[in-house]
Amino acid sequence: MAATADTRTHFVVETLSVVPGTRVTLAGWVQRRRDLGSVVFLDLRDRTGILQLVCDVSRGTAEEAMKAADAARNEYVVVVTGTVVTREEKSVNPKLETGQIELLVTELTLVNRAKNPPFYIEDDIDVDEQVRLKYRYLDLRRPEMQRMMRLRHEVFQAFRNFLHGEDFLEVETPILTRSTPEGARDYIVPSRLQHGAFYALPQSPQIFKQLLMVAGYERYYQIARCFRDEDLRADRQPEFTQLDIETSFLSMDALLSLMERMFASVFSTVLGVSLELPFQRLTYEEAMDRYGSDKPDLRFDLPLVSLNDVVAKSSLPAFQTALAEGGAVKALVLPGCAHYSRKQLDDLAKYAMSYGLKGLATLQLGADGMKSSLGKWMSEDELKRMAEVSNAHLGDLVLIGAGPKKVVRQAMGALRLHAASLLGLVDSTAFRFLWIVDFPLFSLDEETKQYVAEHHPFTMPRLEDLELLETNPGAVRAQAYDLVLNGFELSSGSMRIYRRDIQERMFAALGFTPEEAKAQFGFLLDAFEYGTPPHGGIAFGLDRLVMLMGGGKSLRDCVAFPKTASATDLMMDAPAAVAKSQLDFLGIQVAERSKS
Ligand code: AMO
Repeated sequence: MAATADTRTHFVVETLSVVPGTRVTLAGWVQRRRDLGSVVFLDLRDRTGILQLVCDVSRGTAEEAMKAADAARNEYVVVVTGTVVTREEKSVNPKLETGQIELLVTELTLVNRAKNPPFYIEDDIDVDEQVRLKYRYLDLRRPEMQRMMRLRHEVFQAFRNFLHGEDFLEVETPILTRSTPEGARDYIVPSRLQHGAFYALPQSPQIFKQLLMVAGYERYYQIARCFRDEDLRADRQPEFTQLDIETSFLSMDALLSLMERMFASVFSTVLGVSLELPFQRLTYEEAMDRYGSDKPDLRFDLPLVSLNDVVAKSSLPAFQTALAEGGAVKALVLPGCAHYSRKQLDDLAKYAMSYGLKGLATLQLGADGMKSSLGKWMSEDELKRMAEVSNAHLGDLVLIGAGPKKVVRQAMGALRLHAASLLGLVDSTAFRFLWIVDFPLFSLDEETKQYVAEHHPFTMPRLEDLELLETNPGAVRAQAYDLVLNGFELSSGSMRIYRRDIQERMFAALGFTPEEAKAQFGFLLDAFEYGTPPHGGIAFGLDRLVMLMGGGKSLRDCVAFPKTASATDLMMDAPAAVAKSQLDFLGIQVAERSKS
């Protein structure tokens, strides 16, 4: 009797552990077909792997099965029965996990035909990403995508297991809600029943999770979908998934150490990697100063060094202006690069200047002596001192940037990453976690000259800075923390304001009138008056985490149905226009786009 789909006895990977000679029935897709006349080879793919099928009447393949093998084409769905045999030495395929064995087919049924797919279902082939996304269900068949989706599942499962073991409750919060201030634009949904009113999709479950603490749930988590209408990049999707966590009555240190144990458990369960605890901590100021970034990649060191004191006497106008205006002069040492050519130095300068620096000075500590673009403005002794302070040695190249503090940090920080990648200093197998603490509570919006919350408006100020809320908001530090992994911001969190008076002062510092604060967040301010426990939490970007754990380059590598950089779904063709009748129902008219 011909095999049918429900008679499968094994998945491909399981054929590796059966005794040769075992009869099995497999089901899957034809990956490839090679016709040698009397013998037809089919590669069968299922979600666990690929196995070679041998169809040969002289070795027991039924006539009907042979006909089916002749008719089979790529991506046809087949069910096959046969005997697992060890391959002859000369036909072993070391590139295939099952390359030592093959299936001698007796029966083969074509369950469904397939059109010729628009691209081969194989990893490492060059296919336009737009085409991949349009036919995402085919792209998802690729072994690499299957690996990523399985990893994602394992990671989610491991987090759930850990949190369940620590007595966290998984609670779902609404998707149709009000604006939640995380700094991006909202996606909004018109209400049919409340004419002219709109829901906002949550940018995060922030307010709900705080209200769950007011409600006494103590330990909450959710694998939460969040929606943000913001400019997209390789590490940002308009809808993404957070592991969202909130706890009551825990100090910041206790919470961070619980989170560290959680990561250690997940990495050990899923990857067999043991993480070193506790994770390193840097203050925001230290990170910005030493690495020019609040999410430094610490898989390599290459610190930035301040040269403000060393260049104080130099007559170079760029240094003088920088110092006079409270700016910075910083050095980055590239070990063993003193021999760099003019062209290589120019390329580095161009790179730094694309981040706003006006120029990049160089000091080369070659075996044949020191060479510097600063020779005209600094004495040999001063240059030597510069090398010494930068901790540069014979054979090294020192790159020097000067200007406003923010620009120097940004440009030299970017140059640090660029140089590490040029010099091959990044260990792609390492996982370097780092907490950044003591963030400023506010940052100043250069355009509006208004303070905006660096994290969100519910973050508790450091208590010793509380008095500065009204007098010097820019100097207030937050009880906030970010977790950085290999240079990516993996998560943000904070201890929260849990008193109405402090929350009201916070809103005032952000420029809300009491009426505006009440209109937007009155329910939260009210809730704070009904016995709110001290609480704090954090949210981890799970898409980013899976990307980093799986070695992906973009979130699109680890989200099943991602959107493009212009926030479209090419497969479903979303977003799309809707019927006029649907809009009429909602009382909505679409205006012409203004041509400004
Ligand atoms: P935050 O806005 O920092 O914090 O978000 C937490 C983490 O979510 C990830 N993330 C994203 N991932 C993919 N695409 C995006 N567009 C995107 N935006 C953010 C990042 C980020 O670190 N409510 C607070 C958390 C809290 O205070 O508990 C929040 O949402 O990895």
